[in-house]
Amino acid sequence: EIYDDSDKASLYVAQEISKLIVLRQQQNKNVVLGLATGSTPTKVYDFLVKFHKEGLSFKNVITFNLDEYYPMEPDSIHSYVRFMNEHLFDHIDVDKKNIHIPDGTVNKDNIREFCDNYEKKIVEAGGIDIQILGIGRTGHIGFNEPGSSITSKTRIIRLDRVTRLDAASDFFGEENVPTKAITMGVGTIMNARKVILMAWGEGKANIIKESVEGKIKESIPATFLQEHPNCDFILDQAAASSL
Ligand code: GLP
Repeated sequence: EIYDDSDKASLYVAQEISKLIVLRQQQNKNVVLGLATGSTPTKVYDFLVKFHKEGLSFKNVITFNLDEYYPMEPDSIHSYVRFMNEHLFDHIDVDKKNIHIPDGTVNKDNIREFCDNYEKKIVEAGGIDIQILGIGRTGHIGFNEPGSSITSKTRIIRLDRVTRLDAASDFFGEENVPTKAITMGVGTIMNARKVILMAWGEGKANIIKESVEGKIKESIPATFLQEHPNCDFILDQAAASSL
């Protein structure tokens, strides 16, 4: 779906999320959201905060974030924990115990166990209802870099050079960007009941074309979404300009 601009597109996504929250409240049930970081989803979070101020409660919401750099302290200015608190969690009434973000401080020897447990928690929560995604220039979703398989699960991954270059300005230099991250797998994302990938701006036009129209292949993990039964690409005009 192509919107005039990222404001209108983000409003649509926030409304989809809030509609499901309200529906589940009426049924006395929880909603499980898969959340993303990066600049792309920030306007969605702004709208959700606005909806909360207007009365929407997040008490029945359970969240799982896609990824975190490794190693990463939660109170670092670069952590995704901090990002999520600043953009969303500090401004809504979500129960803190319902928030899950991969732990960038977990001991090296325990990463495997942590990742398996993260998967288990998603299943125990009932599975992800809506997974929102941005997309990296390499075609990564979460931090599933080229080479990630369609069945991959939460794990530690080495970041692609392009991804680290893109993050360099946030970290005041490429040499400061962590070389690794913990990310949900492509398979974890594929298990979500609904997936919404968002992309804004001309810089994403090529990778969007490849992801939507290209052959399905591990070298562009976002192409796997073509196989998902309920996945929307929500784009602004510029991101859709090469389609
Ligand atoms: C990072 C995140 C991804 C995100 C991507 C794009 O790599 N781990 O989840 O989609 O950046 O970032 P942006 O939305 O700023 O373009």
